[in-house]
Amino acid sequence: APTALDSLLAWYQEMGVTELVSEQPVDHFAPPPAPPRLGPQLSDPRPFSPTAAQPLPLPLDDAAASARELAASCQNLVELEAALAAFDGCPLKETAISLCFADGNPAAEVMLIGEAPGAHEDRQGKPFVGPSGKLLDRMLACIGLDRSGVYITNVIYWRPPGNRSPTAAEIAACQPFLERQIELLRPRLIVFVGSIAARALLGLTEGVTKLRGRDYRYQLADGSSLPALVMFHPAYLLRQPAQKRLAWRDLLAIRRKLDAG
Ligand code: URA
Repeated sequence: APTALDSLLAWYQEMGVTELVSEQPVDHFAPPPAPPRLGPQLSDPRPFSPTAAQPLPLPLDDAAASARELAASCQNLVELEAALAAFDGCPLKETAISLCFADGNPAAEVMLIGEAPGAHEDRQGKPFVGPSGKLLDRMLACIGLDRSGVYITNVIYWRPPGNRSPTAAEIAACQPFLERQIELLRPRLIVFVGSIAARALLGLTEGVTKLRGRDYRYQLADGSSLPALVMFHPAYLLRQPAQKRLAWRDLLAIRRKLDAG
């Protein structure tokens, strides 16, 4: 029979608690701390300096504009990752443990773009290393690919708390970096893993069931374009294994595109 502790843990899980974030308990019912003192205080020996204040979070449009400018200035992937690490326009950075930039081979012909890191990815700082990643690896192996033959990233570079879907603002803040990542890589084929990636980069609105099975072109800023496909997200296949039949067709479509030279 389940013990009281088992029941408590099960209840936590049902309520969406997926991990402990601190060794120290937090009293959420304690009165909030006094607001920070603004301006010069009589007892404060330092002169008041507005520029020394903590920066406020950037509004959405400013965050996207600053992301675009920062991303455009990067000449290679190392610079792009460093720019992202220094970028404060995506609030998810505050709650995430790590920046998940990419995994795989930057010289690969195929670039896979997923949605957002989960708990495993957040801990390891790499995309697709949890259960979805393990299934993705097995799927890729069926068409002769492994991580040395693909480059993997996500639309969102930091884990959304509790694995919730990313907001439009979070996608807008990250997207200029992803667009620059594609420009710098120029893969032979882009594979959108799940609908969020395809919707953000191709400007589409349908769900993945409608989007998969078709050929797309991803437009680059210089007017050229790259072939693109959409496949089911492995997290979806873990919940809906009957869809693996169609997922097999997606994999064959990737193989055919690569073999077509
Ligand atoms: N799901 C994603 O879309 N990306 C990851 O990196 C992990 C899970």
